[in-house]
Amino acid sequence: MSTALAADPTTGHVAVPLCGITGRGMLNFPVYLRTASDAMVLYRDQGSQIAEDQVERLFQEGVRDFWIRGEDRGAYLHRIECSLGEILNDKRASVERRADVLHGVALTVAEESLQGRLDREGVVRAQRMIVCASSLLLRETHAFGAMRALLGASDSLAQHSVTTAFLAMGLARQALSFDAATVAMAGLAGLLHDTGRIGHEDVGDDAEHAQRGEAALRHLGLAPDVCAAAKAHHERHDGSGSPHGLRDCSIPPIARVVGLVDAFDEVYSAQPTKLRVFDALRVLADTWSGGFDPNLSTTFVKLFR
Ligand SMILES: [Fe+2]
Ligand SMILES: [Fe+2]
Repeated sequence: MSTALAADPTTGHVAVPLCGITGRGMLNFPVYLRTASDAMVLYRDQGSQIAEDQVERLFQEGVRDFWIRGEDRGAYLHRIECSLGEILNDKRASVERRADVLHGVALTVAEESLQGRLDREGVVRAQRMIVCASSLLLRETHAFGAMRALLGASDSLAQHSVTTAFLAMGLARQALSFDAATVAMAGLAGLLHDTGRIGHEDVGDDAEHAQRGEAALRHLGLAPDVCAAAKAHHERHDGSGSPHGLRDCSIPPIARVVGLVDAFDEVYSAQPTKLRVFDALRVLADTWSGGFDPNLSTTFVKLFR
């Protein structure tokens, strides 16, 4: 998976949207502007503040990005996590730039919530991020394409969870409903589907993780659809899956969506040489012929066009 908010290779600085940095107390990192000759000039130092009218003035002057040092990426993402919705709604930044910020926040939330033990604070952070992501996806035509373009092969539970969340939202929108609650539910189910793997990451074929995950999510008060997806994401259309060998429509709809996306990411990410998306889709079709609802599979392939 590509790094969220990748640094400029020449300067090591990272471009971030103008929105989101203002009005949240003093800066805990310096903020720069890039000149026409690509030099970085300090705009506000650590310990100062940026007011919204100053941002608006910069925008009027043609400035489109602030720049931060690469080492301040984590501090930036924590600072803007609570204003993510505001940032994603601010069209002064391109949808690609906003999707990049979303991706960074999503990875941070997943990395910090899906390690050790998922707790209520982690659930709240996950829900807040997913609601912002699903609103963007439903609001802007090119948002899903921008989100999808940021995803690559996953090499951690956090990356796999974010990829599954983003693709599950795109698939749910096309295959289930344009309803915001359904899309957000699919995103949250995708993000949390492997909660049962936390603490058991080294177990290769961990058949118990689906039921363990469902129990943990139920204990934390997650919605029934999210819990059901954790339990049933390894069930297969032809009854060949686990833990109960459910078939066809007896597999809950969001679990079907998450199960297909999950299987795709495992194929895409597990190959020793980098697979192209369409090769991974072909491998998936060959390996799990009959394992997925054909209509759902067709809709999934169309997401990559
Ligand atoms: Fe799983
Ligand atoms: Fe998974």
